[in-house]
Parts: sequence; C-alpha cells; structure tokens
Amino acid sequence: MTRSERGSFGSRLGIILATAGSAVGLGNVWRFPFMAGQNGGAAFILIYIGCILLLGIPGMVSEFIVGRHSASNAARAYGNLSGRKGWSAIGYMGIATSMIILGFYAVVAGWCLQYLTASLTGSLGGDMKYVQDYFFTFSSDPVKPVLWGLAFILVTHWVIVHGIRGGIERASKMLMPTLFILLIVLVAASCMLPGAGKGVEFLLKPDFGKVDSQVFLEALGQAFFSLSLGTACLCTYASYFGRQTNLMRSACQIAVIDTVIAVLAGLMIFPAAFSVGISPDSGPSLIFITLPNVFREAFASLPVVGYVVSVLFYVLLSLAALTSTISMHEIGTAFFHEEIHLPRRHAAWIVTVCTGLICVLSSLSVGAMPVLHLAGRSLMDFFDALTAQMLMPVGAFLTCVYVGWFAPHKVVRDEFTNRGTLRSRLFHVYLFAVKYVCPIFITLIFLHQFGLI
Ligand code: PHE
Repeated sequence: MTRSERGSFGSRLGIILATAGSAVGLGNVWRFPFMAGQNGGAAFILIYIGCILLLGIPGMVSEFIVGRHSASNAARAYGNLSGRKGWSAIGYMGIATSMIILGFYAVVAGWCLQYLTASLTGSLGGDMKYVQDYFFTFSSDPVKPVLWGLAFILVTHWVIVHGIRGGIERASKMLMPTLFILLIVLVAASCMLPGAGKGVEFLLKPDFGKVDSQVFLEALGQAFFSLSLGTACLCTYASYFGRQTNLMRSACQIAVIDTVIAVLAGLMIFPAAFSVGISPDSGPSLIFITLPNVFREAFASLPVVGYVVSVLFYVLLSLAALTSTISMHEIGTAFFHEEIHLPRRHAAWIVTVCTGLICVLSSLSVGAMPVLHLAGRSLMDFFDALTAQMLMPVGAFLTCVYVGWFAPHKVVRDEFTNRGTLRSRLFHVYLFAVKYVCPIFITLIFLHQFGLI
C-alpha cells in the first residue's frame, strides 16, 4: 500500500490534536494527580518534567522517525528503517502491548461511564462509607463493569472504522477542545473554594523531603505512560504524518499540552480536596472514592453546583479516556489491515474482540472471580504492571537503541531535518540523547526496579 493509498491526517492541527489525544488520557487526569499526591507534589512535578525533557521528547521523536519513514503499520515500520526484518520484533511487541493496555484501560474507562450515569441520576450522594461501598460493590459486580468496559471498546471501534481523517482526526478535533474547556471550568470551580490555596501551594511549592529513588522511578514510569511511549502508538500515528511535519517541534508541542493538562488536573483536584480537609495521597481510588466525597462536601451549600461539577468531571474523564483508547485500537487495526490484507472494518473487529476478552478477564479479576490472579495480583493489576513497568520501558529502550545505533544515520537525519529543509542544530543533541542518555537511564531504572542497584 503506497503512502497516498493509506489514510493520512489532513492538517497540522489534526496531527497535534490526535497525537496529543493519545497522550492525554486517564494517565493525566487520574494517574498523575495521585502520583503527585503520593510523591511530594511540586517536587514530583519537577522531576517528571525533567524526565519528559530528557527521555520523553527524544523517545517520541524516535518513534515518529520510524513511523513516518516507512508509512506503514508498526511491525513493518521497524523492519523497514534498517532493512533488517528482525527489528520488526519491537513493532510486534508494541502492538501486543497496546492491545493489553486497551483491554484493562477500558475497564477503568467503563467505571468512568458508570460514575457518569450515577452522578447524573444522583445515586452517588451519600456519606463517606456509602461512596466507598458503592465503589467496591460496583467494581466487583460480575456483569455491570464488564458491560461498561465492552461498551467503551465498541465506541472506540466505531470511531476507528471511520478511518484516519473521518474518524480519528475528526473525533480529536471535537474532543480535545471540549476536554480543555471542561478542565478550565472545573479548575476555576475548585480554586474558588474556601481554603483552596493550600492545594495550590501543595502542587506548586516543592518539598524535596519526600524525594528518593522511588520517586524518580515513579516519575519516569508516569512520563512513559502519559506520552504513550514504547507502545508503537506514536509510530503508528506518525505513519499518517505528512512529509513536511516538523517531528521535533510536534513532539515538543504534544509534550507541553500533555504536561499542562496533567498539572491542570492536579489544580482541579487538590484545591477541592484540601478545602474539605481530605488527604491528597489516597492512591488509585482517588477519583472513584475520594472525589465524590470532595464534591459533596465542598459544594454542600450549593448542591446544584456540586451536581454539575461531578457530572462534568466524569464527562471529562470519559472523553480523555476515549482519545487514548482510539490510539491504542488503531495500532492493531492498522497492523491487521495491512499485513493480513483485511478490510479495515474486519481488522478493527479482530482488535475489538481480542481486547474485549482482555477487558472481561481484567474486570472479573477485580472482585467477581478472585481465581483470576497471576503472580500474586489480580489480572488487572498484573497487566498494568506488566505493561507500565516492563513492556513500555523495554519498547522505548529498544526504539532508542535501534534509532541511535542501528538505523542508517542518513535516514534518521533526513527524517529529523525533513530532508535537510529544517535547521539541524538540535539533531546532535537529539542523537546524543537517544544514543546515550535514554538507554543508560532506562537501564538504571530497570536495575533499580529489580533491586539490582
Ligand atoms: N497516554 C495515555 C494516558 O495518559 C495512555 C496510553 C498508553 C495511550 C499507551 C496509548 C498508548 O492515559
């Protein structure tokens, strides 16, 4: 399939919004705030920004180079760049990783849909104990969360079958601005609460007392997850970029959008939490247990505002999740479409069915079927750890080593500089980062993770 026969994004804005849509997701609105809360607030954010600059942006550019150069699905793209087919293994790994992530990510996305309907019908109103029980009863139900997760995958499927421009780009152009406006409204509502200043201070005033090597590890893992690195996702999207797209500039713009949205999500959550005296470090249950309580108490004197805020919040979460699941789905769909020569619609069904299965198993493992445990954790947690702590860093490591050391230097340079039409001053900095900085850092972090240093 030639470059012109394949779909492509129609505009620069489309490229930025679609790729930023992949990056902006539950990672920003759900994972980032509780990570920051547990790891020292502003100190964590500074380390996180360091990881984005040092490792995230070079990693993104590398995936972009592989994808745009070959204009094909991830498996073929990795084989094409150096001409040695063995490297396709990185692409295959990325495809598998993104399908596993889509499977368990859809479970959490499904919870968001349930909470959206619950906040619409007012059934989240109750005291602390009620909200806690609500979460545990719902998430361990054998049917409801499974159906919501599957529904989420089907909505994703629906966008995907409309193609690159008519599906992904169009959806991103609608969803991303909506998401941003919702976020601003919610940040304003949260920051206007009495006592909100403490939350803002927590997020913006660094306390290095909590910083240890574990915090670095968490920040790096979060940076990879949030930028969708190491899953071949950026590589697949870059295969739809135009020849004139400036890869370095796009990577920087996407990283800025992603980071700004994560910090805004913190500014939406912490001021409200502090204003009612609820601890910010409550972990993954933050948005499903802590926040409904925060909304109720913070707006106790204005219940209508509380109602609107909580509905908007779960709409925001669901939209953020959708822009990400679209990108995860596209990786597999592009692969089955181009390699097995299936019509795009059929290729999309293969991904939907496989990820649907992972979603069902993950959801059941949370409570309804405790036998679904692997290596001492529920399948859901197992898939999360397997991808975020193993497959994504390994994928990013191999991509950097491949582009830095094994791919033809001229091709890498041509892609970076758009065949010499862009100034290449940054090229050497980039090359140094992918050759040395990224592989060394990722290796150190791995060794640390397994207790070897
Ligand atoms: N970056 C997304 C988020 O922050 C998650 C994601 C991971 C998306 C891998 C695509 C691929 O939620």
